Amino acid sequence: MSTHIGANPGEIAERVLMPGDPLRAKWIAETYLEDARCYSTVRGMLGFTGRWSGTEVSVQGSGMGMPSASIYAHELINDYGVTSLIRVGSCGALTEDLRLRDVIAANGSSTDSNMNRVRFDGLVDYAPVADFGLLRTSVEVAERRGIAMRVGPVLAADAFYTDRPDLYDTLADYGVLAVEMESAALYTIAARFRARALTLLTVSDHLKTGEKTSAQEREQTFSQMVEIALDTIVA
Ligand code: HPA
Repeated sequence: MSTHIGANPGEIAERVLMPGDPLRAKWIAETYLEDARCYSTVRGMLGFTGRWSGTEVSVQGSGMGMPSASIYAHELINDYGVTSLIRVGSCGALTEDLRLRDVIAANGSSTDSNMNRVRFDGLVDYAPVADFGLLRTSVEVAERRGIAMRVGPVLAADAFYTDRPDLYDTLADYGVLAVEMESAALYTIAARFRARALTLLTVSDHLKTGEKTSAQEREQTFSQMVEIALDTIVA
């Protein structure tokens, strides 16, 4: 067992899907994985291992925000030998051309988090990026499944509720598609420990139009994104 995950060695697969919401992890395991069993309930941050297309896959809740997601990414890689991680999450759309439930693959992640400023002494603005192999495979899988997935940069924000919506407009001017709260930390930690990481997102709310999906839809209607993530991680 690691500090925050209650699994025995060997109970977590090398390939992991990481939703923020532990109940979404349970839903993914029960809906998609064969022989799924729960390996951790520590802090209610549920984790499961099962099989997808004959290959072992785990699904681990990460919590919300970069401090929480960093803990799980770090321990999965360093304590359990995880080599590939795909975050499956939700995001708020920043650009007019996106619609609720659109799927996005985040090729890069800007951030207002201080974590990398501390890491690099404020001397370098490190550019967290997705693993190219996972990204390429996800694009091929989406095409094969007939799902129109957007590939582009996102913002990983520390605060869900912002006092600076004007910054979102500026970021949209620079091509940033959406805002979520974990990808920059995931990409940075994966790079540091030579693991592969990708973030797939479904638009749950639109910050320009004010449209939103319900909490129940957030939990259960992200199936296209999850199917892309599963096919990608076992490829
Ligand atoms: N902001 C940050 N993270 C999010 C949002 C948002 O509007 N929607 C879904 N995840």
